[in-house]
Amino acid sequence: MARVLIAGCGYVGSALGELLVADGHEVFGLRRNPENLPAGIKPVRADLSLPETLVSLPTGIDTIFYTAGASRSDEEGYRYAYLDGMGRLLGALADLAEKPKRIFFTSSTSVYDQRRGEWVDEESKAAPSSYRGDIMLMTERLLLAGEIPGTVVRLGGIYGPGRDRLLRAVARGEVAASDGEPHYTNRIHRDDAAGCLRHLMQLEAPASLYLGVDHEAAEESAVLRWLADRLGVKLPEPGDADREGEAPARVRRAGSKRCRNDRLVESGYRFQYPTFREGYEMVIRGWARPEDG
Ligand SMILES: NC(=O)c1ccc[n+]([C@@H]2O[C@H](COP(=O)([O-])OP(=O)(O)OC[C@H]3O[C@@H](n4cnc5c(N)ncnc54)[C@H](OP(=O)(O)O)[C@@H]3O)[C@@H](O)[C@H]2O)c1
Repeated sequence: MARVLIAGCGYVGSALGELLVADGHEVFGLRRNPENLPAGIKPVRADLSLPETLVSLPTGIDTIFYTAGASRSDEEGYRYAYLDGMGRLLGALADLAEKPKRIFFTSSTSVYDQRRGEWVDEESKAAPSSYRGDIMLMTERLLLAGEIPGTVVRLGGIYGPGRDRLLRAVARGEVAASDGEPHYTNRIHRDDAAGCLRHLMQLEAPASLYLGVDHEAAEESAVLRWLADRLGVKLPEPGDADREGEAPARVRRAGSKRCRNDRLVESGYRFQYPTFREGYEMVIRGWARPEDG
């Protein structure tokens, strides 16, 4: 049994915590508001960016997962949640003379600026052009330059139960398929994000970097068409009004790159939801459509 700290125990962190509790580990879930953590995860109230709240971290921790997510999407919010938070956590561990075996950090594929459908893997150049990608990359480097072994998992867009913005937008006819260049998107179901972190923790010697995306870098329009078919709604053409006739349906313009998951798969991880189809099928089964309230 290991003692595990999940720093920023939210959507993915809680799912991971539940898996690790079921495995028999002792799991601490750290966040600013730890009131409603799943059963079995021991709450730790702290703010990763406020060192005075980190003085009484649980001791003797074997593995740390840094899964905090920014609660504000501006530059300051990003810096606070990632770079400051990681720096302060590493500082607190040093002050407490704590030496966990490894820290895993859930970074993002936003560190890659490739936009023309290029294939991307762990060897590809990460040269972000946004503060989001910049701050993620700086946080990765801070972790990997430290004394505690680190592993970075660059996750694609996370979706799953409760993360249904795209489903709602399709159901309401708010989003149209693009008629231009293909736009490739990369995603991972929440349970695979949690599952692959659990898997990596079990490896003898995890690599320092993995891409955490499913098997299909899906073309955005194909995802929208599949969702519309599955929901039995018509996908508007670009320029059409949405279902309420209020606004033209938006064409989503995500950055276009195709991320590979070979390293993760070769390490032995088997995806529960290999593509968006299986993953959204699971989400839709437990889903209340907007008109259902
Ligand atoms: N969402 C995506 O599509 C996506 C894509 C790529 C990578 N990622 C990364 O994947 C990870 C997991 O994502 P997620 O969706 O599970 O995140 P999330 O639920 O949005 O956030 C995780 C938790 O972090 C806590 N937190 C934020 N700032 C904190 C701080 N200063 N101190 C302590 N706790 C703090 C929040 O709880 P409190 O408010 O209670 O503190 C929140 O519950 C994140 O690192 C995210 O950046 C996400």
